[in-house]
Amino acid sequence: MCGIVGYVGEKYVPEVLTSGLSSLEYRGYDSSGVAVITNGITKVYKAEGKLQNLKDLLAEKQDEIKDAKVGIGHIRWATHGVPNEINAHPHTSNSGKLAVVHNGIIENYKELRAELEKQGVVFKSETDTETVAHLVAKKYEKTNDLKEAVRLATKELEGAYALCIIHQDVKDTIIATRRNAPLLIGVGEGENFAASDVPAIIEHTKRAIYLDDNQIAVLKADSIELFDAENNKIQPKIELLPWEPIALSKMGYKHFMLKEIHEQPDVIRNFLSGKLHTADAKIVLDEVKLDKESLKNLNRIQVVACGTSLHAALVGKYIIEELCHIPVDVEASSEYIYRTTVTDEHTLVIGVSQSGETADTLTAVKQSKARGSHILIITNRPDSAMAREADSLIPVNAGIEVSVAATKSYVAQLMAFYALAIHLAEIKGSIEENYLKEIKNELLLLPQKIELLLTKKEKIQKCSRMYSSSKNFIFIARGINYATALEGALKLKEISYINATGYPAGELKHGPIAMLDETLPVLSILMSGKVYEKILSNAQESKARNARMIALTDSTDEKLEDLFDYVLNVPHVHELISPIMAIIPLQLLAYYIAEFLGKDVDQPRNLAKSVTVE
Ligand code: M6R
Repeated sequence: MCGIVGYVGEKYVPEVLTSGLSSLEYRGYDSSGVAVITNGITKVYKAEGKLQNLKDLLAEKQDEIKDAKVGIGHIRWATHGVPNEINAHPHTSNSGKLAVVHNGIIENYKELRAELEKQGVVFKSETDTETVAHLVAKKYEKTNDLKEAVRLATKELEGAYALCIIHQDVKDTIIATRRNAPLLIGVGEGENFAASDVPAIIEHTKRAIYLDDNQIAVLKADSIELFDAENNKIQPKIELLPWEPIALSKMGYKHFMLKEIHEQPDVIRNFLSGKLHTADAKIVLDEVKLDKESLKNLNRIQVVACGTSLHAALVGKYIIEELCHIPVDVEASSEYIYRTTVTDEHTLVIGVSQSGETADTLTAVKQSKARGSHILIITNRPDSAMAREADSLIPVNAGIEVSVAATKSYVAQLMAFYALAIHLAEIKGSIEENYLKEIKNELLLLPQKIELLLTKKEKIQKCSRMYSSSKNFIFIARGINYATALEGALKLKEISYINATGYPAGELKHGPIAMLDETLPVLSILMSGKVYEKILSNAQESKARNARMIALTDSTDEKLEDLFDYVLNVPHVHELISPIMAIIPLQLLAYYIAEFLGKDVDQPRNLAKSVTVE
């Protein structure tokens, strides 16, 4: 899940490449590099660490590269080989004339490398990508045609790739191609672009061509030609990007994550607009394309997702089973795809993904689609690969999320599950109308309640400081908020690197209780409802083992102050809606702890926003 950019045109090439890479930093940020052809020679510049290091290097080399008219750039999230300068892209052929940037994984690179080494090729890096550089160079030696060389070489590649390739003997030309990794072509006037994602080009053009798997594009400043894997010329389909140039501004917040947490009330309002205005009205969810009869007869739902999206799916299971009485299975996509699974044309398969690019979820969705299931995708990226697989698509419209830790996209995914469950329940008549009305009313009131909570952050901030030196953290909950415990723990792990685990509170006594002592914080998610008293009893078990006790609650029971060292209050909400209210303080807790510890909140180590490798 690296980011790649290519540019051919009259602008200052290093600037176009690095500003494009800046907007792809969410895809990886452990090293970066560019290759340009300047005065007929391919030149490569790379830097370990943050993109700024590359920018500084390019600023020093300005004189040497100012005449370049073509270039490719890369920002890396290491898969093969440590993140250092040697392994950073672009990679070059032994002659140094050809340069390649790559996103994806070449699964058969070891075999290809061994074969190329036998032919005398010398490798410099540990990467799978360098194999591509040498393989294409070999084919070029034979064909003297760069597009054909790429076509022949990619036929030998197994795995996933988005590639941009330049060669100093092929004047001002980029060859771009992809398979199972995102790549789009930006269509300009007297200039053209290639990129892993829209933000890298949107400042320059709103017209784009989405490449299909195995298609090859030949980009020059004034032309774009497209070919399929059999070398047939294809008419490019130019689409208008529904994007405005995005000022990626923190709007005065210290980090994007904090800004995105604060955007959540508006994300909910935005999601509901056009779908639900009053609690008396039926929800409008035209995005679901299954006819009423099929929806009424649905007898099974399978949800596939990863990470935070998986937690949203776990909440979704509770909501759908509660309101619609349809059994819902939820599974991590990475597990789902390598076992015998039994979805068919009678199963609704829901893929949940903020980015719409997560490789495991994309594969799971494709597998289910091949078995005839109706595919419903819940994503923040209606222009993504997953969205393209959808029979029904619910865009969650959370707006671009820059921070690697998902916050507002999670809340938006939960909103999609509420809308879907209410829609299904209204069609099936599976639940009493008054109950549904109560839930709808609660959803409509939710943004103001969250706003109220966000005005009282100081207590959470203080709590974060008190517990920031903890090496471990336990989150417990039951019922619909078990997933909130998992998500709270994931947020903390991701950005503060503190070992945090979420448990169903009833499971504590079956093992984890052995870890409890006076050093370990146990945060109980105590939202009013069916399991409130049960969690309280489980919390007592922790108190008896001297754990450091924190409560997150919408209860006003004063006795909680006796049991807990710290009580974080949130406004009262209906139990079914409580996962949205309960996650906000946990996002803030993770944020403030990480911030207090001086961590890189928006770009935590080892992670990337879009995980396009399995
Ligand atoms: O784009 P997706 O929702 O499919 O991504 C899935 C996970 O990689 C993602 O949720 C990850 O866990 C985030 N960093 C969570 O903050």
